[in-house]
Amino acid sequence: MRTLAILLAVFAVQDVQSARILGLFPHTGKSHQMVFDPLLRTLAERGHHVTVVSFFPIKNPPANYTIVSLEGIAAQGVETIDLAYFDNRNKVLNSLGIDRVVKQIFEFQPLADLALNVCSKIVDFPPLADALKKNYDVILVENFNSDCMLGLAHVHGLKAPIISLLSSYLMQWCPDRIGVTDNPSYVPIVSSEHRPKLNFYQRLENTIMNVYYKLWYRYAIQMKEKAIIEKRFGRKIPDLQDLAKNVSMMLVNTFHSMNGVYPLLPGVVEVGGMHLDHKRQPIPHYIERFLNESEHGVVLFSWGSLIKTASIPKYKEDIIVSALSKLKQRVIWKYEDSGEEGTLTGNILKVRWIPQYELLQHKKVIAFIAHGGLLGMTEAISAGKPMLIVPFYGDQPLNGASATAIGLGKAISYADMSEKTLLDGLKSVLSAEMRLSARQASKIWKDRIADPLDTAVYWVERVIRWGDQDPLHSTARDLNFIEYNLLDVAAVILLAIIMIILILRIVIMKILRLISGGMKKEKLH
Ligand SMILES: *[C@@H]1O[C@H](CO)[C@@H](O)[C@H](O)[C@H]1NC(C)=O
Ligand SMILES: *[C@@H]1O[C@H](CO)[C@@H](O)[C@H](O)[C@H]1NC(C)=O
Ligand SMILES: *[C@@H]1O[C@H](CO)[C@@H](O)[C@H](O)[C@H]1NC(C)=O
Repeated sequence: MRTLAILLAVFAVQDVQSARILGLFPHTGKSHQMVFDPLLRTLAERGHHVTVVSFFPIKNPPANYTIVSLEGIAAQGVETIDLAYFDNRNKVLNSLGIDRVVKQIFEFQPLADLALNVCSKIVDFPPLADALKKNYDVILVENFNSDCMLGLAHVHGLKAPIISLLSSYLMQWCPDRIGVTDNPSYVPIVSSEHRPKLNFYQRLENTIMNVYYKLWYRYAIQMKEKAIIEKRFGRKIPDLQDLAKNVSMMLVNTFHSMNGVYPLLPGVVEVGGMHLDHKRQPIPHYIERFLNESEHGVVLFSWGSLIKTASIPKYKEDIIVSALSKLKQRVIWKYEDSGEEGTLTGNILKVRWIPQYELLQHKKVIAFIAHGGLLGMTEAISAGKPMLIVPFYGDQPLNGASATAIGLGKAISYADMSEKTLLDGLKSVLSAEMRLSARQASKIWKDRIADPLDTAVYWVERVIRWGDQDPLHSTARDLNFIEYNLLDVAAVILLAIIMIILILRIVIMKILRLISGGMKKEKLH
């Protein structure tokens, strides 16, 4: 038996050169897919057969790269977020005085609606069903707001090991499925803005939100997705949480020197930056000229792919334009409603679309006004450019706190933004000290044992080679709440202490009685 296992293993090592890999990406956010594409492409270029189910099929796929497009099934998330929302929301919630907590709760609800909408569509999508009926050596599945794909993989009898891919930090529902600790006394939840050390109130908030998100995910998403799948296929399936606890490992889009030091396991591997440096986009001629002709350098300004910058309220745009026009530097602003060759007003060039990473690496670009999305922040730290972060939602406040903590930048509020806060922020970000510390942060961030993309490829192939034979999770994921938190052990110890105290009390009473009895006898004599 043993020899057979070894023979099989040796065979597997050789065979990993052309493994069958399935990638499942049911989320509609474009920036998420941008993190995963270089890995999928590289795996195919290494000779594997890669099948990718996604809302954003790549152009010019390499050989043996099969695309199952989900385009048209649900709306893609590109430039969909209206900035007026952040103005209105803050006024109402501020007046309630519980802005931060309520904000986080409201923010996550759309993720559930999105997940259930996509799930109800993909259960009835023949190209996906066909892809799921084939055999694979490993399955890569995005672990964000849905476990529908895990349920479908089960329904179609897929047996391969599963690797979770995360374009963000571990979401609150991730640690339990791999068995890594997320003690809220010091591990901030994704939507918090507290780092690095939490005070009492922050720990209280962090604990409540940690528990809330886990319950929310379970009841607002997992249970409902299970019901959708069962209804469609007319039979019971296992709890999606149990299927999720079968994942072999997670690849996470973070790196400790930027995102903070938190517990990891062999099966939680940081690959932050794996999407960089693998495709070069040319800088358009007119932008290059604008850069070349700048005397004091250029500040790049972009609020990412999801936010529709042109939806900014007029008074807020006036504040921003007025502040930026006082800079001696030039500004390139990603802004959808601008001319083909950009729209120039004073020192500000509004541009519909920018090759962001290439611009950040350009020597004339000296700072970055951003929303604190993890991708933009990763590009900025890689290029060593300081950031002024205006966080809006999700992990952006936490990223703002991280940038501040490591000297990569500074964060200011959008709701309370004024010409003064903007100019003060820019002054500190453009200072020689901040530019130096951003370059330093970049050097530390780049100092790795291996390139992050190579690291990701290694781990995928390692899981293909060894699968179940090499567990990377901790057994914490098999413990229930009482066992994991040692409540049963604590109860027994407490009971033992109480019993010892009781016994001691009886013994001491006995001794006291004996002594006092002896004394009484003495008096009688
Ligand atoms: C594609 O797959 C076929 C069949 O496994 C193989 O012969 C071929 O070399 C692969 N092509 C590339 C470019 O890897
Ligand atoms: C768990 O994963 C293994 C492969 O790693 C697979 O063989 C097994 O069927 C999976 N179990 C369930 C319940 O899906
Ligand atoms: C910008 O400057 C670089 C080098 O200084 C030069 O190679 C390039 O042609 C210039 N581009 C434009 C559009 O002026």
